[in-house]
Amino acid sequence: MCGIIGIIGKAPVTPLLVDALKRLEYRGYDSAGVATLINGHIDRRRAEGKLANLEAKLAGEPLAGTIGIGHTRWATHGKPSERNAHPIATDRVAVVHNGIIENFQELKDELVAEGRRFDSDTDTEVVAQLLTSYLERQLSPEQAMEKAMGRFKGAFALVALFAGRHDILIGARRGSSLAVGYGEGAMYIGTDALALAPFTDRVAYLEEGDWAVLRDTDCLFYQGVTQVTRTAKHTGLSSTLVGKGNHPHFMLKEICEQPTVLGDTMQQYLDPSRRVRLPALSIDWKNVSRLTMTACGTANFACQIAKYWFEKLARLPVDTEIASEMGSRKPPLSKGSVCVAVSQSGETADTIRAIKYAKQEGLKVVSVVNVPESQIARLSDVVLLTVAGPEIAVASTKAFTTQLLVLLSAAIDAGRARGTLSEEDERALTLALIELPRKVSEVIDAQEQFKALGALELLAKAKCALYLGRDYQYLIAMEGALKLKELTYISAEGYAGGEMKHGPIALVDSDLPVFVLAPSGPSFDEMVSNFEQVKARGGQVILLTDARGASRLANESTACCITLPDVHPDVAPILYAVAVQLIAYHTALSMGRDIDQPRNLAKSVSVA
Ligand code: M6R
Repeated sequence: MCGIIGIIGKAPVTPLLVDALKRLEYRGYDSAGVATLINGHIDRRRAEGKLANLEAKLAGEPLAGTIGIGHTRWATHGKPSERNAHPIATDRVAVVHNGIIENFQELKDELVAEGRRFDSDTDTEVVAQLLTSYLERQLSPEQAMEKAMGRFKGAFALVALFAGRHDILIGARRGSSLAVGYGEGAMYIGTDALALAPFTDRVAYLEEGDWAVLRDTDCLFYQGVTQVTRTAKHTGLSSTLVGKGNHPHFMLKEICEQPTVLGDTMQQYLDPSRRVRLPALSIDWKNVSRLTMTACGTANFACQIAKYWFEKLARLPVDTEIASEMGSRKPPLSKGSVCVAVSQSGETADTIRAIKYAKQEGLKVVSVVNVPESQIARLSDVVLLTVAGPEIAVASTKAFTTQLLVLLSAAIDAGRARGTLSEEDERALTLALIELPRKVSEVIDAQEQFKALGALELLAKAKCALYLGRDYQYLIAMEGALKLKELTYISAEGYAGGEMKHGPIALVDSDLPVFVLAPSGPSFDEMVSNFEQVKARGGQVILLTDARGASRLANESTACCITLPDVHPDVAPILYAVAVQLIAYHTALSMGRDIDQPRNLAKSVSVA
């Protein structure tokens, strides 16, 4: 969602701001803007749509200045337009904001009653107007920000630039993240370390409720009126890490990185004797009676697959709750249960809300996250890291498969501790995990078969698609359908094979592509029945199976048969996840879609 950058230095700042905004593009946005100070006056350029529009505007009307702020906006209040694009400004202050000021209407009514005129439909404008009101009452920028923070309800990160003050930027956060970067003779503030990556790798994070005053050589942090210490640390991020390399899209790059990042993640969860073991886990699996797993989107499917693993391998009952539902309906959580939260970004507002609820109910929280400094990591009692590296494409790929790897490792660890997993089964599973990166490479190397699928007329003209699977593959069917809709805007549904006859079979006709996920194994014969039922009604089957499955169905006609390597049934969902990613990627490519930034979507969903 919205991306923020602020810079105070000695060099012309606009090109640096735009450069940083490019690195924040991955978060998803629909307008962008920058503001600087010129001879003490605020000047700004804003544009609806992609950053190219802002760049074109800046080419015609350049913006000087050595202090400035920039923003990519994902619309919440007010449609995407230049008028609603940030920075939102008065003649005294310009503000960039991520999050939602929940009580904006109440504040707006108050400010309008004072005689203030609003120029946008955004909730952000109350921040600019309230700060202006305080400045006009002779408060300093610092006093104004401290006082204003006490008035805002909701989750937000914001940075303000003040007219006449070339020496300071003020940032504040509650809920949404904000990081301060320490450079040489320049200071930076931005949404995350990625935005700051080429400028500096020394970063300090604002804590919940902090506000910070940035000068060109240092930064002071406050909680209310009290000065607090926030230590800068070196991040491992560099700008080279966040390029596309030789790939046309971040998504393809990230799909292709999976063998490496699965291997790197695996290393974290294997002990010297090559047994799966969680590092210094402060959880005694024998005393855990239940798990409550929570997440959003793709990470939620990781939880649902993990439920099958924990219940099978560790005989540990698991409830899965979509985080937005858990946070709002507040289900009873049994004592003795542990909450497991899964998130790539570690900043998803719905997941944070669910975690806070679980903590309030007295549960320990174990999180599986990809960003060690994220809010979710910091809120958790135990953090299990995925070592996926930055994931830039909106569609989650390598984060998902590494989440699955960590969760399967945790289920193995729990199964051993609870005495429900035999040594022989553990050995077979561990071996399958060790072989996984190689098998994922084989899937990626056999991309021709997915490219052929991309060229299928059937998919190009499809209005909807069905994905069917049983057991773990039912959940990969759900994930495959999510990936296809995100990237191609084709309406797609994932269903358990056994459920097809209870409703979705009504959709089947000769225009319906049906992806049948059928590795050979316990559910294969039942999936063959689904296959036959679809074909009997003229449906077009795209079969995903292994060599054995393909040879058993060799005499059957299919629109396409994708053959994947043989794999242990408990590890198969990780391998088939890569296949559904490639299906969505190549279909979207052949349709000319915006693969890395599909319409309306944001990478890090930081509003609830
Ligand atoms: O950062 P998170 O893992 O918490 O994000 C959760 C979802 O927003 C995310 O998985 C989303 O569904 C992806 N766009 C799926 O590709």
